[in-house]
Order: sequence, then structure tokens, then C-alpha cells
Amino acid sequence: MFFILFFTPFLGLFSTTYADNEPLKPLEVPKNLDTLKVKLGERLFHDVRLSKDNTLACAGCHNLALGGADDKALSIGINGGIGSVNSPTVYNSGLLFRQFWDGRAETLAEQVDGPVQAEVEMGSLWPEVIIKLYKDATYPAQFAMVYKEKKGAISRAHIKDAIAEFERSLVTINSPFDRYLKGDQKAIDAQAKEGYRLFKHYGCASCHQGANVGGNMYQVFGVVGSYFKEQGKITTADKGRFNVTGNPQDMHRFKVPSLRMAALTAPYLHNGKAKTLRDAVDIMFKYQLGREAPDKDKEAIVHFIKTLVGEHPALKKRVK
Ligand code: HEC
Ligand code: HEC
Repeated sequence: MFFILFFTPFLGLFSTTYADNEPLKPLEVPKNLDTLKVKLGERLFHDVRLSKDNTLACAGCHNLALGGADDKALSIGINGGIGSVNSPTVYNSGLLFRQFWDGRAETLAEQVDGPVQAEVEMGSLWPEVIIKLYKDATYPAQFAMVYKEKKGAISRAHIKDAIAEFERSLVTINSPFDRYLKGDQKAIDAQAKEGYRLFKHYGCASCHQGANVGGNMYQVFGVVGSYFKEQGKITTADKGRFNVTGNPQDMHRFKVPSLRMAALTAPYLHNGKAKTLRDAVDIMFKYQLGREAPDKDKEAIVHFIKTLVGEHPALKKRVK
């Protein structure tokens, strides 16, 4: 009892030191991951045998060294097939409330069915993938060890489960901005602090928020003005969540993307049409906020977004 009375005031003090009232939160090291599963998932993520012609791995479109995405406007699958949307980063994907631009997959494991089977991505059939993996010298034993089954350990469900566990490990902790949120005033410079203030002031944080600076809600793209009309032809992908629900209110509605790795993952937007971060920010001001802002404010916001990139052993590229 004495212990509790004595320490309670101190706990109160610590719990309000940072971030409590901020719309953005620091990323934390993921807890309770199964290390063996993560290792298996990592191997599968880099394995071209998941694709029909053994040429393309998940990592082919989600390059972990460069930021977890590719550098193309629209991704290119096996046989040069061109996809309909821009590849998002897989870093921090475990924190997204749904997967894909239109949120059509509920979980990371469910998401894996998409690329493996999509004609314009890996173009595989699951039974073929499973046969190929059984022929490998070490996969059967590795799966059996992780899933504690002798027979049938290499299954569609287990492949998806292992990849999802690996993806949950891809959290980019310790960014300059997170260190700032946790109280290190010197972690970011004055322009980045101003950029963060403006990010909140203009209302960016009403959509891009939480630890992932996005990824926790759907919003219409083109709240103000008519982005899509001005683009000319409207593609199926442009309809966003409408494709999933058929609900007219979901027309052009997308999952708000995370900005955590944005500084490394040009080009931008679901259609890959914004070449630079600055282009994307200009479009946000025009079509999401319906307002203009001085150049120096936009530059400060871009500078702030660059401080959101954290660390992961697989990530090599640095923010310029
Ligand atoms: C041909 C390139 C390509 C390959 C190969 C590929 N992806 Fe993707 N990935 C994409 C694109 C493009 C999207 C966005 C698709 C959409 O939203 O409709 C995406 C979306 C995702 C997402 C959702 C992220 C988000 O922000 O919603 C995850 C997670 C992901 N991929 C993981 C994987 C895994 C795991 C594999 C291997 C099994 C894989 N990808 C293979 C291009 C690819
Ligand atoms: C009303 C909600 C909303 C507001 C406000 C908003 N955004 Fe967005 N943002 C979105 C959505 C939705 C997308 C995805 C649009 C698409 O590609 O379909 C997006 C995309 C982006 C992207 C591209 C990310 C990528 O990986 O492609 C950047 C950068 C961005 N926003 C920054 C900002 C900034 C900076 C502000 C404030 C000036 C802002 N946003 C305000 C909803 C919003």
C-alpha cells in the first residue's frame, strides 16, 4: 500500500511527458513476435517461387532496402503486366487498419492472396506454389518446425501466416520525429518543428494521424474540387472503395496512406501521378483542403515528412 501511495504521483508525472495530446504517436517495437515464423516469412517474402515463372518475389515490388515499395508509378508484374495502382510500402503495414488502397483485405494474411494470384503481379496458383516449396531442400523441415506438423506443414494458410508475421516485424522505430515526440528537442530542426505545427494547423493531421501518420481511416480523395474530372479518363482503380462496397458514398474513397516512409517512396498517390513529395503536398492542399499556402509552409511540411523515416535493419536508403 505504502508503495502505491508513494509512487503514484511520480507515475503521473512520467505519463504526461510526451505525445499524450499529440495527434501523431511514436512507433513502438512490435511485441510478441514469433522469431522462427518471422525468419520463415522473410525467406518467403524474398522467394521468386511464389510467382508463376519464378522471376518475381514480393520484394521485387517492395524493396526493403529502398523503402519497402518500388520506384514506378504503377507496379510491373510477371510478363511485364502493368498494375492499376502504385505500390505502397510494406514497412509498418502491420499497423494499417485494412490492407490495400481500397481496404479490400482485412488482414495481412488475407492480403497475400492478392499478389500471389493476381495475373498482373505473381500470377500463381496456390497448389503450384506449394509443390515448388515442397521440392526445396530445407523448406519442409523449416515449416514443420514452425508449425509443429510433420505432414502438410507447407500450406496456403501457413505461407500467408508466416509472411504476415514477417511484415509485422517491419516497424521503422526511432525516427528523428519520434525522438522529438519522446522529448529530445534536438532530434529535429526548427523548420521541421514548424512543418509539424503547420501539418496540424492546416488539418493534414485530421486524416494522417496516429503512430503510422495515416492508415487508420478512409477518406474521399478530392474532397474539394474535382480531381478526377481534371485527370481526364477515370479508371476502375480511381473509384477506390466503391469497387468493394458498391456504395455511392464510397466513390473515390481510399484508405488514407501512411506518411511514415513517404520521403523514400516516390512517386505518390494511388495512381502514381504525383512525382515528388512536393507535388503530393500541393495536390493535398488543393483537393483535400481546398486552400493555398505559401511556398515556405509547404517546404516546411515536406521537410517535416522527411523526419518521419525511422530505422530497420533491412532499410539502407537514407533521406536526402
Ligand atoms: C507486381 C508488384 C507487386 C508484387 C510482386 C507484390 N506486391 Fe504488394 N503491392 C503492390 C501494389 C501495386 C499494391 C497496392 C495494390 C492495391 O492497393 O490495390 C500492393 C499492396 C501490398 C500491401 C498493402 C499495403 C497497404 O498500404 O495497403 C501489402 C502488405 C503487400 N502489398 C505485401 C505484398 C506481399 C507479402 C507480396 C508477396 C506475396 C507482395 N506484396 C507482392 C505490388 C506488388
Ligand atoms: C480529408 C483527408 C486528408 C487530408 C486533410 C489530407 N490528406 Fe493527404 N491523403 C489523403 C488520401 C485519401 C490520400 C490518398 C489519395 C490517393 O492517392 O487516392 C492522401 C495522400 C497523401 C500523400 C501521398 C502519400 C503516398 O504514399 O502516396 C501525401 C504525401 C499526403 N497525403 C500528405 C498530406 C498533407 C501534407 C496534408 C495537409 C496539407 C494532407 N495530406 C491532407 C487524405 C487526406
